[in-house]
Amino acid sequence: MNKRPHEVFVWPLCTRIIHWIIATSFFFSFLTSFQHALFRWHLSFGLIFGVVLLFRLIWGFVGPNYATFKTFKLSYQELQDYFVQKVQNRWRKIYAGHNAASSWFTLIVLGLGSLIVLSGLLLQGTQEASGIFSSLNVRYFGFSSSLLVSHEILSYVLFTWAIIHIIGVLIEQFYHKTNMVFAMLSGYKKAEGTDATVSIIRHLFSYAVIGLSLGMLYFVASSDETFFTKSRFEKRNFQAENSSFYEKCGKCHKIYPPFMLPYDSWVRLMDGLDNHFGEQITENNITKSEQMSIKAYLLSHCAETSTHKIAVKTLESLGDMRPISMSKVPYWREVHQSIEKRVFKSLHVKNASNCFACHPDFEYGIFENTRIHIPK
Ligand code: HEC
Ligand code: HEC
Repeated sequence: MNKRPHEVFVWPLCTRIIHWIIATSFFFSFLTSFQHALFRWHLSFGLIFGVVLLFRLIWGFVGPNYATFKTFKLSYQELQDYFVQKVQNRWRKIYAGHNAASSWFTLIVLGLGSLIVLSGLLLQGTQEASGIFSSLNVRYFGFSSSLLVSHEILSYVLFTWAIIHIIGVLIEQFYHKTNMVFAMLSGYKKAEGTDATVSIIRHLFSYAVIGLSLGMLYFVASSDETFFTKSRFEKRNFQAENSSFYEKCGKCHKIYPPFMLPYDSWVRLMDGLDNHFGEQITENNITKSEQMSIKAYLLSHCAETSTHKIAVKTLESLGDMRPISMSKVPYWREVHQSIEKRVFKSLHVKNASNCFACHPDFEYGIFENTRIHIPK
């Protein structure tokens, strides 16, 4: 016997919560993808999205009735019938579980979503050298641009797909009056079928996953050093690598890591110390032999030798140019164009060359997308 007459209990609370976590985690990861400074949030929401998709996949095999794939209507005939009836009969009776359209919809969300999460993790590994796949950075950086394009295209497709879903639900709600919007809130649908039941084990499993995804949000968003955010690049000890470089070049400003600029830029910079950004650096400041040692060190650790994202992107964007300041690098300009000029002139930043103000630990060769902050 159903609990309510003319209505069926289709979506138990755990299913509803998971549905909304799938929707909101995707939506927020989409929203936070437009700003580098929100990368850590993007990552947390993306990971949650991955966890709940995986759960939904497993749920499709072991879940309660209406949720399992074997109740899905997947033949072409059923899909055609669904739309024919929808058009011909406004007051048609609907089936409690997934109809042909929503069966296909769910499978496509699962497929697209999994590809988005996978491409995102691989992109993070190859390009940012962090996270689960950070070890892929050295050999597979070359794949990062195609991964980025796939990650973006798939996300836009899924976003459009979600909008189609929302329009479909609104048509059900207001045209067919099947109260579809509230079904995912109350669990009840005006339809034909028997109430769904969920065993204790399934309850435990689903609430464990819900707990895990909320924990993930806290865990990832709160630290850079988690399994999911950790970079494969360790803090560098430049003093041990080359003490003259560390001591002499660190006199007026913090140390710029050698992988930041290409070979020929360092040649230009080291050959032009007599006019170094308006400063005259002579042999009295840095002796000839120290200069030679620093130059050799910089050249052997320049951008061409590195798989840091800055190094590769800087080289890519420079073409034949070999500037000695990052603010002349097109890639640098592009990523900083949204920052207002007055921010760079502010008390805590002073000028655009002071990378260290907004990129903590840059002087130790650490550059983390997850840690960018603008000092107030
Ligand atoms: C006498 C002070 C002084 C010393 C010593 C010095 N610099 Fe600089 N350097 C500056 C100034 C001033 C700028 C301009 C940016 C600023 O105001 O911080 C600058 C800028 C730079 C930049 C450009 C940063 C950017 O992308 O905008 C690099 C790279 C650099 N220095 C490398 C070095 C290296 C390598 C050494 C050691 C050989 C060195 N500097 C020693 C004063 C100095
Ligand atoms: C006023 C603060 C500020 C200063 C100074 C600054 N940056 Fe940034 N940087 C940012 C912000 C904010 C972003 C993220 C922009 C966005 O959301 O797209 C960023 C992004 C970047 C990125 C791109 C990150 C990525 O994953 O693609 C690189 C590389 C970078 N900065 C390097 C530098 C270097 C090198 C310097 C010094 C020459 C520097 N920045 C100076 C604030 C700053």
